[in-house]
Amino acid sequence: MSKQDTHFFNVFSLVIGLLVAVAVGLFALARIVASRTQDLQVLTEADYSRNVDARIHPLAREAIAGRDNSALAIQTAQGAAAGTAVAAAMPKNGTELFEQTCSACHGPGIAGAPRAGDKGAWAARIAEGKPMLYEHALKGYQGKAGVMPPKGGRMDAPDELVKQAVDHLVQMAQ
Ligand code: HEC
Repeated sequence: MSKQDTHFFNVFSLVIGLLVAVAVGLFALARIVASRTQDLQVLTEADYSRNVDARIHPLAREAIAGRDNSALAIQTAQGAAAGTAVAAAMPKNGTELFEQTCSACHGPGIAGAPRAGDKGAWAARIAEGKPMLYEHALKGYQGKAGVMPPKGGRMDAPDELVKQAVDHLVQMAQ
């Protein structure tokens, strides 16, 4: 071998050696990082499918009058268990329902909703009579001012409770 060849061979070996060392170093680094992060995120199959279910399930479920809606309660309970779609606790009376749900619109009077306690805004409505107000609150309606959603969107509330909330609204405007 000429001197030049020897020199080349030495430099070449050195470079290859360095590259191998870098590769081994990267491999070791990757293992260390992985051991800190990867195992922690491994979920059991059941957890995994529950999470997927929670992410893709519909935002809202509606009870349908005259049908068996018991599955709804179970699903809601499951949702709550999975930490998602936690249904607010059922209010105990009309006043609570008003505070939880109706006041979102009727409190500040947004989207055309007549403001709670605003006598002027309610007088003509109260004059329609309670049965009409109940009907509109339960089934929802589109008036000149805006859209009143059925039960204010709280579809799982029993009719009786919604009527009590209407009574509460009427009382506040008298
Ligand atoms: C998303 C907003 C919104 C929520 C929540 C809401 N309302 Fe309304 N409500 C409206 C709007 C808007 C109107 C007025 C519609 C119109 O007359 O054009 C209205 C009107 C009404 C009326 C008058 C009906 C009539 O015949 O004039 C009653 C009673 C009523 N709401 C009760 C309730 C009750 C009870 C709740 C809670 C369970 C509730 N609302 C929750 C928006 C809402």
